[in-house]
Amino acid sequence: MDFGKKKILPNGWKLAEIQDLSLLEEMEKIVFERSAWARFSIQSHLEHHFAWLKEGVGYLFYVDLGDSLELLRIGILPSKRKSGEGETILRTLCEFSSKVLLEVSSRNPPALNLYHKLGFKELGIRKSYYGPGEDAILMEWAKTD
Ligand SMILES: CC(C)(COP(=O)(O)OP(=O)(O)OC[C@H]1O[C@@H](n2cnc3c(N)ncnc32)[C@H](O)[C@@H]1OP(=O)(O)O)[C@@H](O)C(=O)NCCC(=O)NCCS
Repeated sequence: MDFGKKKILPNGWKLAEIQDLSLLEEMEKIVFERSAWARFSIQSHLEHHFAWLKEGVGYLFYVDLGDSLELLRIGILPSKRKSGEGETILRTLCEFSSKVLLEVSSRNPPALNLYHKLGFKELGIRKSYYGPGEDAILMEWAKTD
């Protein structure tokens, strides 16, 4: 992804680097608790994909698939939620591509609401993917102009 041709990230957000591994690991544990990614997974994503970070606020991980981006993770620290940070950074991600894909649990209303608010559409469902009765919902955002 060519950051040179695109707009800069919102105030306080930056492209994460390997030096941010411990900070991301700490935030991931706070946000996702028992389902947090292990340190080696975060390291692997930092080495092979992309992460954006706002220290003390939140982060996201995504993969650049060429014609689209796939959001892997978005996390805002509990004390910073409901202040527009998640929406702001996800809107920015959408500005970097004509298509964004993601997968979300059917039992995650905050995330589902956020994605619907930004215009993501449901593409399909993987029944009980995360456990009994907890489906994975595949969603896509596509640029309209
Ligand atoms: C989902 C998450 C990223 C939202 O971040 P946030 O910064 O709190 O969200 P925002 O303040 O930008 O809210 C934007 C919209 O999201 C929805 N939303 C956010 N929090 C919500 C909540 N607690 N309940 C219902 N809807 C919610 C609303 O539609 C909201 O728009 P509104 O303020 O006009 O109602 C955050 O709750 C989070 O980190 N959750 C834990 C991690 C997670 O589940 N990540 C997604 C799966 S990887």
